[in-house]
Amino acid sequence: MAEVTQSASVAAAALAAGQLVALPTETVYGLGASIDHAKAVERVFQVKNRPNEHPLIVHVEADADLSHWATRVPATATALVEAFWPGPLTLVIPKSDNVPGSVTGGQNTVALRSPDSPHFLEVLAELSRLTGAPAAIAAPSANLFGQVSPTTAEHVQDGLGSRLDPSDIILDGGPSEVGIESTIVLCRDQDVEVLRPGGITEEDLAQIVTVTPSVHESVTSSDAQPRVSGSLESHYSPAAQVIVLEPEESIDDLATSQEVDLESLGIIALESETVKLGGATELARPNNSEAYAAQLYAALRKADDLGLRTVVAVTPPNVGIGVAIRDRLKRAAS
Ligand code: TXA
Ligand code: MG
Repeated sequence: MAEVTQSASVAAAALAAGQLVALPTETVYGLGASIDHAKAVERVFQVKNRPNEHPLIVHVEADADLSHWATRVPATATALVEAFWPGPLTLVIPKSDNVPGSVTGGQNTVALRSPDSPHFLEVLAELSRLTGAPAAIAAPSANLFGQVSPTTAEHVQDGLGSRLDPSDIILDGGPSEVGIESTIVLCRDQDVEVLRPGGITEEDLAQIVTVTPSVHESVTSSDAQPRVSGSLESHYSPAAQVIVLEPEESIDDLATSQEVDLESLGIIALESETVKLGGATELARPNNSEAYAAQLYAALRKADDLGLRTVVAVTPPNVGIGVAIRDRLKRAAS
């Protein structure tokens, strides 16, 4: 059981002492370790039950000198930092020796992000003050491997509380505003490739850099060596079975055709979708795609808390953050 606090300085002191700290970000909560503490980094993998070859995102201050963590900073990375940090955008660039191979799963690249959370940024600043060096916190989402990411401190407590030590910390910064994980881009000199869609949309990226369709999208089977763990086909999964519908498909048809038990059915759909199913539980009825993203993971958790057997999720339109929502829903469904 970890201590829950709202104090950034308590959290920074714990990280400096080699403890784990669950940290709020605008996307989802992360389970953090200072990258200078090898034992703490190892514990992150253990607590999450995460395979060691899955690399972790390294979180840094928004004005960090990236050349400390990278051997070379492509112009695309510099431009994207300028445009979107702090924010839900993770940049994959060639790593320097200041990043231990244990953090990057042995890869020669590092994934860097500066989260847009005042709590997290305060922890980074305080950690840097305490150590007299640039702060870097490795933090995957604070959930068991393969399960739904947490968007509140309570979710972290429910999922990982019993696996944390009494001197580990959960920093409570309130609910995550974006609600789904950051966009991950591989940065090259002339262009970037989206490895995972997320809070910064492809339309946003294209304003700043050339976006080339990803050749890594095919890495989705569990026996392939994943570059992006969220790219495993089954991920972000609740216990309930998830059925994904396109906006034009009708939930009402589904219920009558498949004899779905309405008593154990939950629904996630935009408010604008017509759904008339007496007996089914409305898990989330957001009024736009941003709200859909913010509510999605809490809605999937609620389905499990209520013991529902099936969740029907009607996807939002396939533009903007809708692309990332569909990506997560499809993985939750497989
Ligand atoms: O929004 C987020 O990104 C959250 C918050 C806590 O920052 N973090 C997150 O971490 O989603 P995680 O570990 O659940 O997912 C990180 C993804 C993994 O799929 C991992 O494979 C990928 O980042 N990744 C990390 N380092 C990489 C690298 N060097 N090259 C390619 N992918 C990398
Ligand atoms: Mg994750």
